[in-house]
Amino acid sequence: MTQSSKTPTLVTGATGKTGRRIVQRLTDAGWPVRIGSRSATPVFDWERPETWAPALEGMTAAYVAYVPDLAVEGSLDAIRGFLDAAEAAGVRRVVLLSGRGEPEAQACEDELKSRDLEWTILRCSWFAQNFSENFFLEGVLAGEVVTPLGLAPDPLVDAEDIADAAFRALTEDGHAGRLYEMTGPQALTFAETVAEIARATGRDIRHVEVPVADYRAALEATDLPPEYVDLVMYLFTTVLDGRNTPVTDGVQQALGQPPRSFAEFARRTAAEGAWDPPT
Ligand SMILES: NC(=O)c1ccc[n+]([C@@H]2O[C@H](COP(=O)([O-])OP(=O)(O)OC[C@H]3O[C@@H](n4cnc5c(N)ncnc54)[C@H](OP(=O)(O)O)[C@@H]3O)[C@@H](O)[C@H]2O)c1
Repeated sequence: MTQSSKTPTLVTGATGKTGRRIVQRLTDAGWPVRIGSRSATPVFDWERPETWAPALEGMTAAYVAYVPDLAVEGSLDAIRGFLDAAEAAGVRRVVLLSGRGEPEAQACEDELKSRDLEWTILRCSWFAQNFSENFFLEGVLAGEVVTPLGLAPDPLVDAEDIADAAFRALTEDGHAGRLYEMTGPQALTFAETVAEIARATGRDIRHVEVPVADYRAALEATDLPPEYVDLVMYLFTTVLDGRNTPVTDGVQQALGQPPRSFAEFARRTAAEGAWDPPT
């Protein structure tokens, strides 16, 4: 691969769980990258469509991680507008991060598929990194992870596998027109994931289940915006109702190797110090 054939890529969510790992891989391999972030120059903000064209200018590929989630109202309009701007800028290759079991996300996938672009869709289960980089991190550090009652087991996928797949889809031929449904190798309950983290850290971390209504009430008592509370409850009660429990072979298809396990994620993340007690 010559330097001139390494085409410039906009990575949205570039400071987040998948995006920053993709930026790292592209940069290490010498691919020109533009950081898609509200704090980058030019600014990229999903809530400000006027920022999309400047961020896409000169790019021939894009990694699309829509926030807060493709399941929220308005995501389809945003994806349509973004793809219009991408095509107008001359982008040829788009890798879309999507979520399993979300009909709204699948409408966004269909929008991408309808375009004359080299598209790849990474339709992912919940990320293992939800325990180390945001949602459940606080609970892990506090020694008590609370969830609503009755959640189905989920085969959490490692963001390292997602980043590997996105890197390949952005830089190699052979992934256009492919939808990879990506999961980890084994469906685990929250009790099992928390036990795995406790084992890896050597710390006492409990998993506590509370009625769904109590969980919502606790979220509502914080200063979180109501639409974020709705999204979190949707992700728990709809996405984790059992529809996503089956394991898939999307990681194997995309990478030619099996997915990383949650136990491996937990050991690696503990060794990196992400769950060290706050000092
Ligand atoms: N987490 C999961 O388990 C999971 C599973 C399946 C699919 N997904 C999908 O993954 C995507 C990302 O979700 P995530 O929860 O994992 O988050 P994440 O990628 O870790 O989110 C943080 C990133 O979003 C960026 N961001 C936040 N608000 C933004 C805005 N208004 N405009 C532009 N960028 C913004 C942040 O950048 P700056 O702050 O630097 O602007 C940061 O890079 C969503 O589409 C979600 O549906 C997530």
